[in-house]
Amino acid sequence: MTVLVFGGTGFIGQRAIRRLADRGEKVVCMDINPRSASFDEYGDQVSVMYGDITQFEDVIKAILASKPDRILNLAYLLGSGDDTPHFTMKLNVLGMDNCFEAARVCGVNRIVYASSLASSGQQSHFGERLINEDDAKMGTSQYAVHKIFNEFQADQYNSIYGMSITGIRPANVTGPDKVRGSTDHVRCVVLPAMGQPVSFPKKDIMRLPVHVDDVAEAFVRVTLANSSHYPLYNTGGEAISMGDLADIVRGYLPDAQITFESDGGREDSGNFLVDNSRLLGEFELEYPPFHTRVLQIINEVRESEGLPLVG
Ligand SMILES: NC(=O)c1ccc[n+]([C@@H]2O[C@H](COP(=O)([O-])OP(=O)(O)OC[C@H]3O[C@@H](n4cnc5c(N)ncnc54)[C@H](O)[C@@H]3O)[C@@H](O)[C@H]2O)c1
Repeated sequence: MTVLVFGGTGFIGQRAIRRLADRGEKVVCMDINPRSASFDEYGDQVSVMYGDITQFEDVIKAILASKPDRILNLAYLLGSGDDTPHFTMKLNVLGMDNCFEAARVCGVNRIVYASSLASSGQQSHFGERLINEDDAKMGTSQYAVHKIFNEFQADQYNSIYGMSITGIRPANVTGPDKVRGSTDHVRCVVLPAMGQPVSFPKKDIMRLPVHVDDVAEAFVRVTLANSSHYPLYNTGGEAISMGDLADIVRGYLPDAQITFESDGGREDSGNFLVDNSRLLGEFELEYPPFHTRVLQIINEVRESEGLPLVG
C-alpha cells in the first residue's frame, strides 16, 4: 500500500518511514524540511516532497499526487511554542484540521496521528496509580492543550464522517539524536557517552522514556492496521527517576559525571504511571528491557564519536 507521512523527516518519522519501506510499503513524505533525512537507499519506494501542513493546498496536492491508502501525521511543533501562540496554533491545530479535512475530501479514510502523554498532565492529579486513555485530560501547557484538542478533532471526524482516525500518545521518546521536546533523559545518557559532564536540578523527578525505535514500530503497526479497537493508545514506557537513569548509565560508564543540584521532584513530575496494555495487547508489541536501550544509545553515540564501545 501507499502511506503518506506528514512530518516524516523528523525524529520519529524517519524511523517510521524506514520501517514502512522495509515492509515493502510505498511511502511518500511531505515535510517543511524535506532534506532533514535521506531515504536514497530505498530509491523510488520512498519519495520526499516539500510542503507546509498549515497550507490546505499543500496537503491536498500531496494527497492527490500520492493517492495514499493511509496517512500518518507527525508534523508538529515540539518542545516550545508557548511564546508564539499564533504560529503554534496554525501548525498544531489548523495543521491537524487540514490533514483530516483534506483526507476526507479526497476519500482517504484511515489516518494515524501523534498525540502525547502530555494530554494527561501532571501525575499528581491522579495520585500514585496507572492512568489509561479514558482518564481525564489534565494537561495545561499550550502543547498539551493542542494535543487534547487534536483528540477532539479526531473524535469529530470519526463520529461525523465515519472515518478511522487513531491517535497514539507517545511518552518521553528517547534516542541518540533527539533534540526537541523533553531532552533531560536524553542528555543524561548522550553526554556521559561522549565523556562530558552533565547536571540536572532534581534527582527524583520522574520520566517515562520509551525508545524511538519502539515508538516508530508502534506507529507503523497502527498505521498498517485496517482499523483499531480504540481511538487512542498510550505507548507507555519505563517509569524511572532521573537519579535511577543516571545509575543505569553509570553501570555502563563508571566514570560518568552526572550530578544533581538537589533531591526531590517526584511531586512535580508529569504523568509517568501509564497503562499501555491496549497498545501492547492489540498490536502485539513488546519493548526490549529498558537498560538495553540505554546501552544501545550509549554505543551509537560512542561509535559516532570514534570512542570504544562499552557493555
Ligand atoms: N519526541 C517525543 O518525545 C514525542 C512525545 C510525544 C509526542 N510526540 C509527537 O510525535 C510527533 C513527531 O514528533 P518528533 O519527535 O518526530 O518531532 P520532530 O520535530 O522531530 O518532527 C516533526 C516534523 O514535522 C515537520 N514539520 C514542522 N512544521 C511543519 C509544517 N508546517 N509542515 C510540514 N511539516 C512540518 C518538521 O520538519 C519535522 O520533520 C509530534 O506530533 C509530537 O508532538 C513526540
